[in-house]
Amino acid sequence: MARIIAGVASSHVPAIGAAIDNKQTEEPYWKRVFSGFETSKEWMRQTKPDVCIVVYNDHASAFSVEIVPTFALGCAAEFPPADEGWGPRPVPVVKGHPELASHIAQSVILDEFDITVVNKMTVDHGLTVPMNLLFGSPAAWPCPVIPLAVNVVLYPPPTGHRCFMLGRAIRKAVESYPDDLRVVIFGTGGMSHQISGPRAGLINSKFDKAFLDNLTKDPQKLARIPHLEYMREAGAEGIEMVMWLIMRGALDDKVDEVYRFYTVPASNTAVGHIILENRAKGAKPAGKRKAAPAKLKRAAARAKVERVHS
Ligand SMILES: [Fe+2]
Repeated sequence: MARIIAGVASSHVPAIGAAIDNKQTEEPYWKRVFSGFETSKEWMRQTKPDVCIVVYNDHASAFSVEIVPTFALGCAAEFPPADEGWGPRPVPVVKGHPELASHIAQSVILDEFDITVVNKMTVDHGLTVPMNLLFGSPAAWPCPVIPLAVNVVLYPPPTGHRCFMLGRAIRKAVESYPDDLRVVIFGTGGMSHQISGPRAGLINSKFDKAFLDNLTKDPQKLARIPHLEYMREAGAEGIEMVMWLIMRGALDDKVDEVYRFYTVPASNTAVGHIILENRAKGAKPAGKRKAAPAKLKRAAARAKVERVHS
């Protein structure tokens, strides 16, 4: 059967994509951000998922404000990068997994999550920036990706609890798929930021760090945070963090936190990142398991990573 082996959360700040595209990653301002993802790229190289599900939000790129689905699942064979006003990003076309995506759509709809099936869609920085941060800038993305776009741009967005429960339903869907696929799920967006209005530039590191702590240890507590608390504590765009709860809901109750990174700011946003593994993650087919990832452990030690058990 297919199974979700790990979850990744990452901010998807558009300026990070611009820094990559304009070859500014070695500049001191940006090196501080990108250096925090070196361990993550090594983790991803070693983890080698067969499929990724990337939970993100569309920023009026594929969907105008005329039609805004709450949950939109990409079931197409491919998803070209969107033109966000200055031409599409120079990143590979995202190849989908229509069979697994359609299976997930069927399963979660029969579980009473009325998602929208999308058979043609471009993908914007919300999806492509985390792909770069975890996979680098390859000529082709190394695995198929199923995009799940969540409305967090037009009121009312879904609640954190709804997102968490959708994650549970996605997990059930994946585990009822017959092929032996190892799936990594991404939650993207956040962390605290507000891009307009009197509180533009708001960042709340205390809230963000507590959110990261509880993402590992007590996600049910996070699922009870109401919209107004996100607005008040994390800024208007901090509501993007409900998407992290879809990722977390798809994981085991108890997970291992293998990496965390937090820096302020990138553009006007707090950048947060975490990697959580299900404890049964190591169950790769016999003979295919790699030796202990010593290189990753060394990299993690350099980054002063704390391994936290929930
Ligand atoms: Fe965003």
